[in-house]
This record gives sequence, C-alpha cells and structure tokens, in this order.
Amino acid sequence: MTTVGLIAPHGGALVNRFLDDHARARALEDASRLPSIQLTAVQQSDLLCIATGVFSPLTGFVRRADYESIVERMRLADGTIWTLPVTLAVSSDRARQIGPGANVALLDPAGSIVATMNVTETFAYDKRLEAGRVYRTEDPAHPGVARLYEQGDILVAGPITMLRCPSDEPFAEFRRDPAATRALFAERGWRRVVGFQTRNPVHRAHEYIQKAALEICDGLLLNPLVGETKSDDISAATRMESYRVLIDNYYPRDRVVLSVFPAAMRYAGPREAVFHAMARKNYGCTHFIVGRDHAGVGNYYGTYDAQRIFDEFDASDLGITPLFFEHTFYCSRCGGMASTKTCPHDESARVTLSGTQVRQMLTRGEVPPPEFTRAEVARVLIAGMREQAVR
Ligand code: ADX
Repeated sequence: MTTVGLIAPHGGALVNRFLDDHARARALEDASRLPSIQLTAVQQSDLLCIATGVFSPLTGFVRRADYESIVERMRLADGTIWTLPVTLAVSSDRARQIGPGANVALLDPAGSIVATMNVTETFAYDKRLEAGRVYRTEDPAHPGVARLYEQGDILVAGPITMLRCPSDEPFAEFRRDPAATRALFAERGWRRVVGFQTRNPVHRAHEYIQKAALEICDGLLLNPLVGETKSDDISAATRMESYRVLIDNYYPRDRVVLSVFPAAMRYAGPREAVFHAMARKNYGCTHFIVGRDHAGVGNYYGTYDAQRIFDEFDASDLGITPLFFEHTFYCSRCGGMASTKTCPHDESARVTLSGTQVRQMLTRGEVPPPEFTRAEVARVLIAGMREQAVR
C-alpha cells in the first residue's frame, strides 16, 4: 500500500507478507508437518522486518545473486540500493535436510511456528569476504563480525509467509508498521518527516539534532532499535521508559511519533547508516538523521564515514534525504547546545562525556550534568541500571 502524497517505499511498493486471517489456521496446521528451522533472535527480527515491509523490497531472505551483489556493490541484483545482507544462515547438517523447492516452517526462539519459507536456494558463502566488505574489518572482536563468524555455514534463501507475530516480540505495543506510520503521517498532514535511529537513551545531543531537524520538517519519527544489541548497551526496556519521560516533558506531542524499530544492530557503521535510511523511507520518512559515528562501534569507522558513504549514491536512488550533523555538545561559553560547526570555543568549554563515562556515573547512582542529559532521563536510567544489576 502506498499512501498518496507520501514518499514512495524503497523499490516502489510496500511489502506485506502476512497471511490473511481466514487462511492462517489451515496454514499453521500444514506448517506443523514441515521440516523446520529454529530462528535466532536476530533472524526473528529480520523476519519481522521483512514481513511488515520495513525491509521492502525484500520478500524473504536473500538469494545468492542478491547476496553477492549486496556484498560487492551495495545493491540488489536489479540495482536497487541495499547495503546489508539479510540472510538466514543454518548449519551444513540442517541445510542437507532442506533442498531447494522445499517448504519449511520457521520457529521463533521459543519453538512456536511463526512463518513458512519456500526455499529457492541454499548456498555456501565466504564469511571473511562478507566481513571485509560489509564491516570493513575481519576482526572477530567486532560484534557484527563475531556474530557472522559464529553463524551457520550455509545460507537458505527464499520468500517467507508470516503466519503470526513472535510470542516474545519486544515492545509489540510500541510497534507501528510502515503501513501504519504512513497512514498516521498522512492523517497528521505531515509532508516532511524526519526519522531518528537510536540504540541509546536520548541525551541532550540527540535531542538537539532531532529538534534542529524538526525545525525544517513537519514531524519526527523517534524510532529506537529494540532488536538485539551488544550486552553492554542500555536495555531497551529502560530506554523506552526514558523516551517516554523525555517526550512527556520536552517534546510537542503533536509533532512526534514514538515507534520501535524491530531490527537488530549490526554495528556496520557506514553501510548500516544507509540500511537504516532505507528502512525509515519505508516508514514514510522523507529525511533521516546521520550524526557522528552512526551505528559505529569501537574505532572501526571514522567519525563521519557513515555520512560520506551517501556520496556514493544518487539522490534519486536513495529517495530519502540524509541530514548530516557534526559532533554536538553543550558549550558553556556559547550557553547552549552547539557543534564543531557552530562553536568557536575549545574543549575546555564543552560538556562531553563518553558512553563509558556516562554508564559508570549512572551505575554509581550519579546524575550526569543537566547539560549532558535531562534529569528526568537520568533518573530513569539510574533506576534501570539498578534493576539490571540486581538481575
Ligand atoms: S546508533 O548506533 O543508533 O547510531 P546512537 O543511538 O548513539 O547510536 O545515535 C543515534 C544517532 O545520533 C546517530 O545518527 C548518531 O550519529 C547521532 N549522534 C549520537 N551522538 C551524537 C553527538 N554527540 N553529536 C552528533 N550526532 C550524534
């Protein structure tokens, strides 16, 4: 479905792989007799993103021609921009039981059938090549590369049909699918909508760039990622609560939509920034924020590599417009939020804290300076850290 007047989905049409209600019971019964593949949490996230159209134009896990083209050219075989392989990896043993042409049932990590897949191909792939091209490193210490090296050696490709949502889906009540966000944007009359990806609490720097973007857009889609992240990232539950208090206290309610992004983090930096942008285009966003070290981890990527990669594509192929922001912070001499682009003062005037410093403060129960994070947000984070420590 495309809502008239909104940006076109990536590839032209919004994908919906859910089966109609009346066909579901029968399909579930049939699926119980099929060979099955038990999905990991990451594969389950990918499945849900495919089924709901977040990954339009993908209709399933990618086939070899698309896989190779994505790895080498950052495009699907037909030329559509697509920067990260969305694959279903299984062990060689499991692959031997699933030949091309087979229908398989896909089980959520709890073991319930959630989808079926028509297997069109199974193929071996080169993990090191994928790591080098996609993550720009073969280092197993990189969390995305580590996950790649640990996964099965054979990729199973084919279109999927979603039968029901996973039982343990995180924050299902906060999930609006692309068709729903598009309908909402149309209802609100928003023509320019900026999407914001985050895997962190919203600190003052995030708030500043969101609001700067909102100055030139009609609405903001605050779209936190709630699929799998590194274990030292702040839990999605705590983050969701922090977004709620922030919006309640500091955002105009009629200009912001909070909805979760069910994808998993890859930490692929530049390539993931483009991938994130395409997904937000599917939600109906016309603009997408890319700040410093977007989707980065450690020192694998340069601070602005995730912005530079957009130069490799034509604006018309991208469709969505990236909005680039320099490193932002509070400057005590400017007396407000600023960036390396707008502030002439040196480091000593700037309130900057690393992620590790902030986590240490919060763990000790210390409230970071209000110039760094809102007190309401800090209180939620401290309580969340305490709860995590008890568990
Ligand atoms: S990400 O992995 O989801 O990109 P994070 O949640 O920290 O990480 O960042 C969300 C977005 O805000 C990204 O576009 C990132 O580049 C941007 N960002 C985060 N902190 C800053 C900052 N201090 N200055 C400018 N941009 C920032």
